[in-house]
Amino acid sequence: MRLWAIADLHLAAERNRAGLLALGHYPEDWLIVAGDVCESIDLFAEALGWLTHRFARVIWVPGNHELWLTDRGQETRSSVAKYASLVAAARRCGVLTPEDPFVAWPPTGDVIVPLCTLYDYSFRPDDIALADVVAWAAELRNVAADEHLISAAPFQGMVEWCAQRCDETEMRLARELPPDARTILVGHYPLRQDLVRIPRIPRFTPWCGTTRTEDWHRRYNAVVAVSGHLHVRRTDWRDGTRFEEVSLGYPKQWDPAKGVSGYLREIMPAA
Ligand SMILES: [Fe+2]
Ligand SMILES: [Fe+2]
Repeated sequence: MRLWAIADLHLAAERNRAGLLALGHYPEDWLIVAGDVCESIDLFAEALGWLTHRFARVIWVPGNHELWLTDRGQETRSSVAKYASLVAAARRCGVLTPEDPFVAWPPTGDVIVPLCTLYDYSFRPDDIALADVVAWAAELRNVAADEHLISAAPFQGMVEWCAQRCDETEMRLARELPPDARTILVGHYPLRQDLVRIPRIPRFTPWCGTTRTEDWHRRYNAVVAVSGHLHVRRTDWRDGTRFEEVSLGYPKQWDPAKGVSGYLREIMPAA
């Protein structure tokens, strides 16, 4: 069995859907899907259900695109409520979410920790105040569409929702992680600001994570930290932890000749 990861499938794009449907069977293997599957809940449920027939186990964390309120006929106008619906849909297909008990990777016992920690605009230069961050990004037209497509209600905004998610995740980790456990941390966003290298959209960083998670790889003894969101595939190392950015991305950002299978990142080798 192997542990694979991919992120940013962006299935609203026809070519990405076709690519996914061409993926083979991996009956022994597990797959991490690190967010940005799509915006529509129906398509999300269909895609996760399909993936559970291709892999032995599927683990999902939300990206910003799942939280977008662009679904037609959506009952709710809050991304917080939409997240709850996404978790329910994932659970109906047997997919593990950040709201479920942690599971260990059987060959090594490393604990897989799916995260929903969001962003709070703290990935910004020291001389830019929080109140000025959107205007600062707007100068280079780098403002994320999240600003008008995500609602954090009943929280005041993303800063408060992100803080609550980080508090709750820290409490759960303190309570549920066995002492001396090694972890595989899985989130949509990179845990550290120094992993965000997006020179074409340099002022997009405020929408890319939170400084709250800066030392989580050390604190939670992570062997690997998996993320997506940047659409810049990379492997980095910090303090002995491997950081894997595993995005597929928008149609022009991947090569159909390689297939989606060519973009599955091996997180844990065959065992
Ligand atoms: Fe994405
Ligand atoms: Fe994203």
